[in-house]
Amino acid sequence: MNIENPEALKPGEARCPGASTRDVVNGDGCRLPEPLLAENYEFLGDGDLPVDRYVSRDFFDAEMKKLWPKVWQWACRDEHIPEVGDYYAYDIGPYSILVVRVAEDEVKAYHNSCLHRGTQLRPSDSTGNVPHFRCPFHGWTWNLDGSLKEIPCRWDFPHVSDAEFSLPEVHVAKWGGFYFVNMDDDPVPLEEYLGPLARHFETWPLADRYVRLHIQKILPANWKAAQEAFLEAYHSMETHSHIMAYSANLNAQYDVFSERVSRFYHTFGFPDPSWTEPLTEQEILDRTGMVPPGSTVPPGGTARSVMAAHMRKVLGEERGIDLSERSDSEMLDSIEYHLFPNMFLFPGIALPMIYRFRPNGMDPDSAIFDLLFLEQLAPGQQRPEAPEPHRIDIGTSYETVPGIGSFLGHIYDQDTGNLEMQQRGFKAARKRGETLGNYQEVRIRRLHQTLDSYLNA
Ligand code: FES
Ligand SMILES: [Fe+2]
Repeated sequence: MNIENPEALKPGEARCPGASTRDVVNGDGCRLPEPLLAENYEFLGDGDLPVDRYVSRDFFDAEMKKLWPKVWQWACRDEHIPEVGDYYAYDIGPYSILVVRVAEDEVKAYHNSCLHRGTQLRPSDSTGNVPHFRCPFHGWTWNLDGSLKEIPCRWDFPHVSDAEFSLPEVHVAKWGGFYFVNMDDDPVPLEEYLGPLARHFETWPLADRYVRLHIQKILPANWKAAQEAFLEAYHSMETHSHIMAYSANLNAQYDVFSERVSRFYHTFGFPDPSWTEPLTEQEILDRTGMVPPGSTVPPGGTARSVMAAHMRKVLGEERGIDLSERSDSEMLDSIEYHLFPNMFLFPGIALPMIYRFRPNGMDPDSAIFDLLFLEQLAPGQQRPEAPEPHRIDIGTSYETVPGIGSFLGHIYDQDTGNLEMQQRGFKAARKRGETLGNYQEVRIRRLHQTLDSYLNA
């Protein structure tokens, strides 16, 4: 980078003045795991993104035809279907897929549609346990393994061969405790699809975690706009101005690791570069409200190290897990991976979220947001069954959900509070394009470029 003459910087080379994420985490003096040492930014262009991508019915229909049936997407986790006969009906647009535990160590997925006259075998978005799949209309029945079991009035269907009337399968593969499905006839293996994500998460095995809390909310925006509110931290200064004294967002690190995997990484317990009032480490700590009153920063210490030590102790004791090897950064920071097209993964300890954003049925103007908290299991702990999602409507605050806490609940309210005005603004726009920042919004551009590779295939 040319610091003498900033004008001479090439597009994408400019960075926020002041301490970088890297400077802050290096200041912790902790040994960082390999993935947190990685940095990979690439300039991907600076042309406007047409807003029609968020509002046009034709564009939405093209996604339904060329994107969703071709990608790996996570449907459920191990703990959603622990017993043989457990199923999970996962819907995406017009498609509906049954993920079923066929045997203790075998899971299959089927298109959720009867081979007689098409009726769904199980309701959309339902879960349950069944001995077989019996269609509610005329009673055609399939075994859990997909083979045809029974056709009432079999004499009337001499043209039906049992062998040809197994339930059509959908590819299913497991990673990190998640079952991913892919409707394509010949998809790339999941491992290849995940690429760098799987390598990074060897450090943070998600199979050792369980769903503590699951919130599902309908958001009033296109599925892409809804998730893009979480792909950058640029909005923080305006949208989350109350946390800038102790949350460093504008100097977030942005990485693009592959066509499908990107990340942002920003720190907590350190002021944002936009914060101008000088603060002592003690004042930073006090403002976070994350430690018991009276906690002090020792001479030469930092708010971050006091907070991280506190979390290690409290969370470690509460959950019976050993966090002594975890860096301050893993304890505190917002480390957020994105897997194309719609999955977000946080490997952190205090912030252990998973997001999924999907179209809400066939509506380009709304999305379903699944927000899960994945906590680490104690050694030898049985994984609890997955909790029922708390379903909240557009106008209901996340803060009303027990277990989320008012700090995060309020942040999520702020994050999704802009979406309705953005979706309406897309329609009202005279300028029919979004203009993105070269660095802070590179993950949004990556998402659209990868989307184009599917739509143009
Ligand atoms: S539609 Fe399923 S049995 Fe008739
Ligand atoms: Fe936010």
